[in-house]
Amino acid sequence: MSIFLGIDIGTSGTKTIAIDVAGNILASATAEYPLSHPKPLWSEQDPEDWWQATIQTVRQVLSTPEVSADQVQAIGLSGQMHGSVFLDVNDKVIRPALLWNDQRTAAECDEIEQRAGGREKLIEMVANPALTGFTAPKILWLRNHEPENFERLRKVLLPKDEIRRRLTGEYATEVSDASGMLLLDVKNRQWSKPLLSALELDESLFGKVYESEEVTGTLKPEVADLLGLPASCKVVGGAGDCAAGAVGNGIVETGVVCTSLGTSGVFFFHSDTPEVDPQGRLHTFCHAVHGKWHMMGVNLAAGGSLQWFRNALCAHLKEVAAQEGKDPYELMIEEAKQAPAGSDGLLFLPYLAGERTPHADPMARGAFVGLTMSHSRGALTRSIMEGVTYALRDSLTIVEELGVEVSEIRATGGGARSPFWRQMQADILGHSVVPTTSEGGGAAYGVALLAAVGAGAYQDITEACRATIKTGPACTPNSEAKAYYDRAFPIYQSLYPALKQSYQEIGGLTE
Ligand code: XUL
Repeated sequence: MSIFLGIDIGTSGTKTIAIDVAGNILASATAEYPLSHPKPLWSEQDPEDWWQATIQTVRQVLSTPEVSADQVQAIGLSGQMHGSVFLDVNDKVIRPALLWNDQRTAAECDEIEQRAGGREKLIEMVANPALTGFTAPKILWLRNHEPENFERLRKVLLPKDEIRRRLTGEYATEVSDASGMLLLDVKNRQWSKPLLSALELDESLFGKVYESEEVTGTLKPEVADLLGLPASCKVVGGAGDCAAGAVGNGIVETGVVCTSLGTSGVFFFHSDTPEVDPQGRLHTFCHAVHGKWHMMGVNLAAGGSLQWFRNALCAHLKEVAAQEGKDPYELMIEEAKQAPAGSDGLLFLPYLAGERTPHADPMARGAFVGLTMSHSRGALTRSIMEGVTYALRDSLTIVEELGVEVSEIRATGGGARSPFWRQMQADILGHSVVPTTSEGGGAAYGVALLAAVGAGAYQDITEACRATIKTGPACTPNSEAKAYYDRAFPIYQSLYPALKQSYQEIGGLTE
């Protein structure tokens, strides 16, 4: 039997799974690590934590009786996108990595636009505008704010590519994750020489670019020993977590789109050609499907908003859940169900970490609007879930404006495990929403499939997805709830423009 591993270096933890060639999940393990916010707008992690979590979860998966280590043929890597691992000449990490949700680089985004000759020119070169979360502005931030660290810089790797380096010794990346660095010529799937030269960055700082299913190396012998894997085990390109999650849900052909509710929220669709939103509201990235692209909208605090509410205001529920052996979210959702669709007129803006789509604004903030004396905690929870889903609808609206026909929405990420939230997605988005039943359905699953393709078990990723991914029963929109949400959505949309100026002023107060 051939076995393939998928490793996903997420923001809250690392998940490793093992699958067989039919896509059955044989074992799965996760290990968590901290996220640090040393200053407002900053978000950092220590790459060493990712490596330790990788070792722990791979070993745990290999210790499962269903998994025999000598049958592991290939590994696929996925991870949080955009993070900057800065390495010196000895491959030592220079400082903690700046993550995708770090918002400190507004000035560097302006600098990039200006050096590129304007926003339009930049979009021509790399298919996207400069956003604070992307990697290139992080490199410029290092140069502008920590010149002594920049002096020592020899390589910049993305989170999963740092794990690849530790596994194989290779400096390599692949097209889907590299697209989010804002340095890739996305149309031609190679580093953008004109932009690198405008930014005065040397191409040698970056890894070799592969397609997602291509083999980028094999395990270093000492690492094979450490993990208990055969040294012949291949490591394929893999994908950034958004493209990987989409592959894990079968979004490898046009028409079917997916939503993902993890820490961030993502609305994702496949494209055979590199389409660009002229206003730059959606990202255009290479897909993990050889020679194809995808577009997506990203909300920075989706599940993250609910997690904030759980930690800040539901301590008591956390205790009860622990006593009853339940997940606190289960109890929170039970309370939310008691509130009517629309949460009795309460609206929530999920911009707790600033926002990307459709308002690229690091200064945007969260808000409850419409609170009255009669709102219960359940109504607050429900309005958070609705606000996050309206944010997905913002992306859907742009996608439809671009003329994309949406035939079905597949729901993925932790939030999709809740049937209540899936139904809410159907009601707010106005389309059938379908879960994938291939248990993982997520990023680790997607890259395990890419590993299977890289090892020759399938001809391409489309064939692998067709053979392995099954969907569950659809939630169709409830006409009464949908009618309510259709009326409430324009009000939700009017709130950000109304508050934009105040957000700037509030930012000024706390500087
Ligand atoms: C995508 C993005 C996030 C991270 C989260 O552009 O920033 O979805 O990849 O893991």
